[in-house]
Amino acid sequence: MIMALSFSLRTIIITAFVLLTTTASSSSPHGFTFDLIHRRSNTSSLRPSTDDYGSPYANTVFDSESSEYLMKIQIGTPPVEIEAMIDTGSHLIWTQCLPCQSCYNQVAPIFDPSKSSTYKPRRCKTHDHSCPYELVYAGKSYTKGTYVSETVTIQSTSGQPFVMPETLIGCGHNNSGLVSTTSGIVGLNWAATSLTSQMGERFLGLLSYCFSGTGTSKINFGANAIVAGDGTVAADMFRKTNFPDFYYLNLDAISVGDNRIEMLGTSFYATDGNMIIDSGTTYTFLPGSYLEQVKAAVESVVTADRAPYSDALCYYSNTIEIFPVITMHFSGGADLVLYNNNMYVDKGGIFCLALMDADPIHMAVFGNRAQNNFLVGYDPSSMVVSFKPTDCSTLF
Ligand SMILES: *[C@@H]1O[C@H](CO)[C@@H](O)[C@H](O)[C@H]1NC(C)=O
Ligand SMILES: *[C@@H]1O[C@H](CO)[C@@H](O)[C@H](O)[C@H]1NC(C)=O
Repeated sequence: MIMALSFSLRTIIITAFVLLTTTASSSSPHGFTFDLIHRRSNTSSLRPSTDDYGSPYANTVFDSESSEYLMKIQIGTPPVEIEAMIDTGSHLIWTQCLPCQSCYNQVAPIFDPSKSSTYKPRRCKTHDHSCPYELVYAGKSYTKGTYVSETVTIQSTSGQPFVMPETLIGCGHNNSGLVSTTSGIVGLNWAATSLTSQMGERFLGLLSYCFSGTGTSKINFGANAIVAGDGTVAADMFRKTNFPDFYYLNLDAISVGDNRIEMLGTSFYATDGNMIIDSGTTYTFLPGSYLEQVKAAVESVVTADRAPYSDALCYYSNTIEIFPVITMHFSGGADLVLYNNNMYVDKGGIFCLALMDADPIHMAVFGNRAQNNFLVGYDPSSMVVSFKPTDCSTLF
């Protein structure tokens, strides 16, 4: 059985005969916190910030910059450490595996299944019982390999290591297009194969993270992931039947300063989710016609000289203070007042509005840069995403 979901950049091909077992060790506490590593990468990576999709972003001011958050996890017995990108927009934990048909160069040694006593290929109802997977993220980025059972261990900063025996992961033997510091991906979406799902039901799928653009960043699971207290706002979370594994928010409006630009009346208007929230995408993508309205509103208040980029709104300036504050209004009552660093990027003497056109990728995305310095909590059981303004670099 091959199920092909083809949409925008995220063409996902799942070859699945997979029986999942969730066997996280039962003696563990109910919450964990892990450090994240922030990487700014310069290469074309997985996401809409790259130029793979008919090159809509080639030669823009953004095309060569992406921002990724990596988590250290250990695979196998004895455990081998890898660094993998956390991704609330995908469903599989995978790493590059020997023998390589084709692997990109990674910093850590490539995982060698022959040295692990807990490595076990999954058996599928194919003629030879092999259990292949193939994931195509964007244009040239893909991983192909086999589904296997392995022990995954995560060194918590808040206590004991968290050991997950017989975790379903992808062992990628033919991989291409990722950045070399990343050994693979940790999928965190709603699917049964994601890390959050495989952690076990008592964690309730609870997940939160705090992304710092400069200092340390954290990720929390289970009880540690609850977001509450001063300044917390809650947005409704939606799950859509077409793409049931994404976490959706519903964007009602954006305010540029006091100028509120409504979704109502645009083709993007919805009440049941119109934007995914994604830790694996750098920038925020809005539908083109709506983006134009937001740009016009910014332009109407900024008095600095325009820098000559045809495809982005940029100004000559030596300070980010020239810009109006942008507030995103999400259904459920979350008026998210963004910091200027979330919405404007410093290109050295030139500042640009960090919003991109979603039309080429057919999907509006709330990206990780806009989420910097918020503690962002996903609570699938109460269908809420919470945001708490937090200086993430001071968390420990
Ligand atoms: C980024 O990529 C450009 C073009 O490929 C290259 O010239 C530059 O040296 C790279 N910068 C870093 C920091 O790797
Ligand atoms: C790896 O996968 C790509 C893309 O499907 C394919 O073109 C290539 O032949 C594969 N490489 C090997 C060595 O199997």
